[in-house]
Amino acid sequence: MPGVHKTIVVLPGDGIGPEVTAAATQVLEDCAEAFGHRFELLPYDFGGVAIDAFGTPLPKETLAACRAVDATLLGAVGGPKWESLPLEQRPEAGLLGIRRGLGLFINLRPLRLRESLRSISPLRLERIANCDFEIVRELAGDIYFGRHQTGTENGVEVARDEAVYSVPEVERVARYAFQRAAARRGHLTSIDKHNILATSVLWRKTVVAMAREYPRVTLDHQYVDNASMQLVLRPEQFDVIVTSNMFGDILSDEAAALAGSIGLIPSMSMGNTAKGALYEPIHGSAPTLAGKDAANPLGTIFSVCMMLRESFGLRAEADWIERGVDRVLDRGLRTADIAESPKQIVPSSVFLEQLRKELSENLRPTEQHGWGV
Ligand code: IPM
Ligand code: MG
Repeated sequence: MPGVHKTIVVLPGDGIGPEVTAAATQVLEDCAEAFGHRFELLPYDFGGVAIDAFGTPLPKETLAACRAVDATLLGAVGGPKWESLPLEQRPEAGLLGIRRGLGLFINLRPLRLRESLRSISPLRLERIANCDFEIVRELAGDIYFGRHQTGTENGVEVARDEAVYSVPEVERVARYAFQRAAARRGHLTSIDKHNILATSVLWRKTVVAMAREYPRVTLDHQYVDNASMQLVLRPEQFDVIVTSNMFGDILSDEAAALAGSIGLIPSMSMGNTAKGALYEPIHGSAPTLAGKDAANPLGTIFSVCMMLRESFGLRAEADWIERGVDRVLDRGLRTADIAESPKQIVPSSVFLEQLRKELSENLRPTEQHGWGV
C-alpha cells in the first residue's frame, strides 16, 4: 500500500499510561518509517493529569481534538491521588465522558493467545488449546450511564443505580457482533441475565429478532453467571461474545486472565465506523508500577496493531509488528507480569529496544508482494 497520512491523538493519562503509550508510539513511528507512512501524533491531557492542570479529566480541547483525527490512542487513567474526589470529577468520569462524547458504543476486546505465552495461562494447556475469541461489549448504555442517586429514605442511607437499554442501542452493537461473527467462525454467544433483569429480556428479544438477517451465524445465549464459569471450563466454545456494558466489563477482565496477564490485552472502542476509533490497553494505570520501567507495553502495542488494521486497513504493518513481538517473546525476553522465571525478566525499555531491533532487521521489500515481512 502506498504511504498514508494519518492523524492520531495520544492521551498518555496517568500511572503507567505515559510509559506504555511512549513505547507504542515509538513502534508506530518505526512502522511509519519502514513502510513510508506518516503518522502525525498529537498529545493531549486526559485523566488525573488533566484534573491537576485544568480541573477537569476531559478538557474541551482534548475532546475536540479526538473528534477531528483518524484515531486516538489512550494509555490509562486514575490513581490514588484522585480517588477521594466525587465520582463525577474523577479520572474515570473522563473516560465515560470521552466514550459518550465520541459516540463510542462498541468495545472490542480480542482474546488471542500468543504461541510462546501459552504456558503462562493459569489454565492447563489442553484447556486453552483452541482458545481464540472476541468480546463485543456495549459501551454507551446500561448501569454505567443510567442515573446514580444517593440519599436518605426512611431514615437510612440508600444508593441507586439505574440500568437502561433501548432496542436501537442493542441493535447497533449486536449488528456489529453478528458481522464480526460472520467474518470469523460464524458463532455468536449473547450473554445476559434474562432470568432476572428487564434490560436483559429486551436485550435477548432484540438479538433473537436480528438473527434472521444472519443465517450463517449460529446464535446462542448464556446467563452471565454460567458464562463466567464457561470461560474457565471451556473457553474454546466461544467465537464472538456480545454483551452489555457491565457484564462486558467484568467478563473481559476474566477473559484477560486466560491469557496470563491483563497487560497483554488491547481494545478498540468505536461508533458507527472505525474512523475516529479509540484504542487502549484494557489494564489500568497500575500506580505501583509507574516509573519503575517495569510495565508491560504489549497491551498498548497490540492496541496500535488493532488501530493499523481496523482504522487504517494496514494489515501487513500490523502483522509485521506482531511477528516482531513473537520473536522477542520466543527469545525468552519478558516483562515481570508474563515471565515464567525471574531470569527472563527485563525492564520495559530493554523489551522495547529488542523489539525495535527485531523489527528493523525483518523488513524486506519483495517485488511481488510489495513489502514482504
Ligand atoms: C474498562 C475499565 C473502565 C470501565 C473503568 C476504568 C471506568 O474498567 O475499560 O474496562 O469500567 O469501563
Ligand atoms: Mg474494566
